[in-house]
Amino acid sequence: MCGIVGYIGKKSALPILMEGLKRMEYRGYDSAGIALISNGKLIIRKQKGKVADLENKLLDGEPLPEAHIGMGHTRWATHGEPNDINAHPHIDCRNEIAVVHNGIIENYLALKTKLLQRGHHFVSTTDTEIVAHLIEEIYKSTPNLFEAVRLAMKQVTGTYGLVVLSSHEPDKIVVARMGSPLILGIGEGENIVAADAAAIIEHTRQVVYLGDGEVAELTADNVTIKTLNDVKITKVVDELTFDLEQIEKGGFPHFMLKEIHEQSESIENALRGRLLEEEGNVRLGGLDNVVEKIEHAPRLIFAACGTSWHAALIGEYMLEQYAQIPVEVEYASEFRYRNPILKKDDVVVLISQSGETADTLAALREAKAKGATVIGICNVVGSSIARESDGGVYIHAGPEIGVASTKAFTSQLTVLALLTILLARRKGMTREQGLELVHELKLLPEKVKAILSDTKQIEYIAGEFKEMKNFLYLGRGYNFPVALEGALKLKEISYIHAEGYPAAEMKHGPIALIDEKMPVVCIAPFDRTYDKIMSNIQEVKARRGRVIAIVNDGEKNIGQLADYLISVPPTLDLFSPILSVIPLQLLAYYIAVARGANVDQPRNLAKSVTVE
Ligand code: G6P
Repeated sequence: MCGIVGYIGKKSALPILMEGLKRMEYRGYDSAGIALISNGKLIIRKQKGKVADLENKLLDGEPLPEAHIGMGHTRWATHGEPNDINAHPHIDCRNEIAVVHNGIIENYLALKTKLLQRGHHFVSTTDTEIVAHLIEEIYKSTPNLFEAVRLAMKQVTGTYGLVVLSSHEPDKIVVARMGSPLILGIGEGENIVAADAAAIIEHTRQVVYLGDGEVAELTADNVTIKTLNDVKITKVVDELTFDLEQIEKGGFPHFMLKEIHEQSESIENALRGRLLEEEGNVRLGGLDNVVEKIEHAPRLIFAACGTSWHAALIGEYMLEQYAQIPVEVEYASEFRYRNPILKKDDVVVLISQSGETADTLAALREAKAKGATVIGICNVVGSSIARESDGGVYIHAGPEIGVASTKAFTSQLTVLALLTILLARRKGMTREQGLELVHELKLLPEKVKAILSDTKQIEYIAGEFKEMKNFLYLGRGYNFPVALEGALKLKEISYIHAEGYPAAEMKHGPIALIDEKMPVVCIAPFDRTYDKIMSNIQEVKARRGRVIAIVNDGEKNIGQLADYLISVPPTLDLFSPILSVIPLQLLAYYIAVARGANVDQPRNLAKSVTVE
């Protein structure tokens, strides 16, 4: 969702801002803009469309004067349609104060009414524009940008990652955060602020994560941070750990394909240093202080969104089967608002690739407020959920840029498997059983490699089915959530309607849809539901449905029924989703490519959903 970048220093600001915006394109957006201050004047350029459109506009127009301070924004529309006027930055009445914003100002109508009475003039239909006018109003009596922003944000309710410039104070950038991430990159003689570390890494590795309710002033040489209540604070400087090449495509046509192919390595990274091979056990250092609580919890509640929610469903199956701990899985967006019953000893586990999803973060805070212990399973190091959890496990998948999550999913499953072994061993699983699980986990990266070594059959099937309008995905047991995930991948990037179902539920509705135009993807590995899903495939075939079956190497029976087979190596039932999802990721990818879709920037979607 909205990308934000701001720069102040010795270098020319514009190229840094444009590069930063490009690095954040993957987050999802529909318009882009920049603001510079040069010779004491604000210069704004913005427009609907892509960063490349903005770049062309800049090239076509008069060259912009040199500037050493500026900010850029990519907007994902919430209030007001995506157009040139609603694009950020937004300015005050006198074109002296400019703001860019990620989030939602909830009391904007009330504030706007007051500001209209004070004679302010609005041009856009955004919630953001009121912030520029509110600061303008306060600046009249408090002519200090840092202070004016602080006072303004005290009047605002909602969420924001905000960057403000004033032509009266061309030597500073003021930023504020409530719920939407902002990272301050600390350079030498320059400072940079961004919503995403991807826009900072080229300039510095030293970062400070701004917290909620904090306001900061950045000059070229200094960063001052205060709370909204005017208390000065000192924060630790963290170091970014990923490399530039991890956020580049490395020869692949799309980030999504690159990340699908990284899965052998990313699973290996999720396991690294965590397996106790002799003991048939695992070590998860981030849970040391909470593991007893988890072990004795009457139940675990997983809260997540999107693909992470699918991972949670599989985690439920793993933990209930092996660790005998009752688990409930909740959509974070529902959990946060439905006043859930939380008992003192319940443990809430938040699963989030980004660690910034607004609903998941709010679910964490709701759970904390009710006294529960909260655990984060995140990818992005230093993200809000990671920081606010009582304990947690990083999945170490490396930056995931593709909007459709792939490697994060398999790494989340790997970490959930580790968590299962840890808890199961504490609750009575024998060393022998532990050894079997640990041994099989270790084999997964090689098995993933085998699946990825030849993807021609999947590409071929994609070509055969690319014109279809609907797809059904069926799975049972551990592979029911994989059916949901396969359908989600296809929807997200190819815009084909797809639904996932537990295979047996097909008879309670979806079977009415089946004919030769309804491809059915059945996930049918050798597991305890194998015979059952074979019957479901028969039912589909009896109605002339076309079946693509994901099976295990060595499969003999389904080949006689299904139209197409995609084979993956066998593994233990609980790890099977880690392998069976990979062909589904590839199928969605190749269908989308065959349909000419822009896989890395799917329409209307955002990578990190930082508004509710
Ligand atoms: C967005 C992304 C999905 C992701 C979901 C949850 O919708 O496009 O790929 O699964 O958010 O994100 P999280 O970062 O919390 O895992």
